[in-house]
Amino acid sequence: MSRKVAVVTGASSGIGKQIAKNLHRNGMTVYALSRKVYQMNELDDLGIHTRHLDVTDYDEVQQVIDQIVQETGRIDVLVNNAGLGVFGPVEEVDLAAGEYEFKVNVFAVMKMIQAVLPVMRQQKSGRIVNISSIDGKIYNLLGSWYVGSKFALEGISDALRLELKPFGIDVIVIEPGAIRSAWKDTATGQMVAAAADGPYAKLARQSADFFSLAYKFASEPRVVARMVDRAAFSRRPKTRYAGGAGAKPILCLRRLLPDRCFDAFLTATNKYAQKILNKQTAFNR
Ligand SMILES: NC(=O)c1ccc[n+]([C@@H]2O[C@H](COP(=O)([O-])OP(=O)(O)OC[C@H]3O[C@@H](n4cnc5c(N)ncnc54)[C@H](OP(=O)(O)O)[C@@H]3O)[C@@H](O)[C@H]2O)c1
Repeated sequence: MSRKVAVVTGASSGIGKQIAKNLHRNGMTVYALSRKVYQMNELDDLGIHTRHLDVTDYDEVQQVIDQIVQETGRIDVLVNNAGLGVFGPVEEVDLAAGEYEFKVNVFAVMKMIQAVLPVMRQQKSGRIVNISSIDGKIYNLLGSWYVGSKFALEGISDALRLELKPFGIDVIVIEPGAIRSAWKDTATGQMVAAAADGPYAKLARQSADFFSLAYKFASEPRVVARMVDRAAFSRRPKTRYAGGAGAKPILCLRRLLPDRCFDAFLTATNKYAQKILNKQTAFNR
């Protein structure tokens, strides 16, 4: 049988790049897609196929997938990894930025899935792996847009799992905790900018401090790539894999605590993040 084929979006950095490397190392023919093709040269050198794709350009999505199917005749695994974190006060974040968040994190994922389904149905097999987040299950301060997009992705993935089961296609959700990549600085940078010195400035600073604290313990992208390996290669994959810094304890806490208690926990951790950071810096001196 010909080698299995995987398609990974957002493969130019962080988690997506590592997912592409792992799937390739484990014997798959991998197509790595992103806008910044020049950031995928090292993947080219490994023998991974790299292609330009802006996932919000639906015509380009269709063209790229059609081209891959023409070249390989099959797609066995689609990893919907491309994503961004729009954070900030709902009142202050431009609605267009919020819409773009949902376009990349939700609508583009749907378009990618629509594009691969005909070939997966024909094969009577396939795996769709959606990179969600612990923010698909919990929530955090000034995270409405991002959290909303990842909650949507979780619900979509569950409904789709039922819809595609009769065709032999599985849908798997990955829920990473804090992972070292460009994501955190992009998310917190624009959050602080959106809040500027307006009424939410203090909350934005607290939230940025919380991120700084949480990401001191961030895991490497390979932790997520290993979960994707399991989703792609296990004979009977789980419906969800959670992992990376803080993921399992925080998801457990969310299950145990009523909403108001979880609110209080988040408010306290955001409020005192700066103090903890200061203490840690003094301790390290
Ligand atoms: N880092 C974390 O702590 C963390 C935690 C939980 C979940 N996640 C999720 O993991 C995924 C990957 O994040 P990361 O941490 O690796 O962040 P990252 O380093 O910022 O990478 C984001 C990737 O998404 C791609 N992307 C963004 N907009 C795109 C577009 N319009 N078209 C095509 N590609 C686009 C980027 O590629 P180009 O700019 O080259 O197009 C880049 O490769 C995201 O879905 C994120 O929500 C991250």
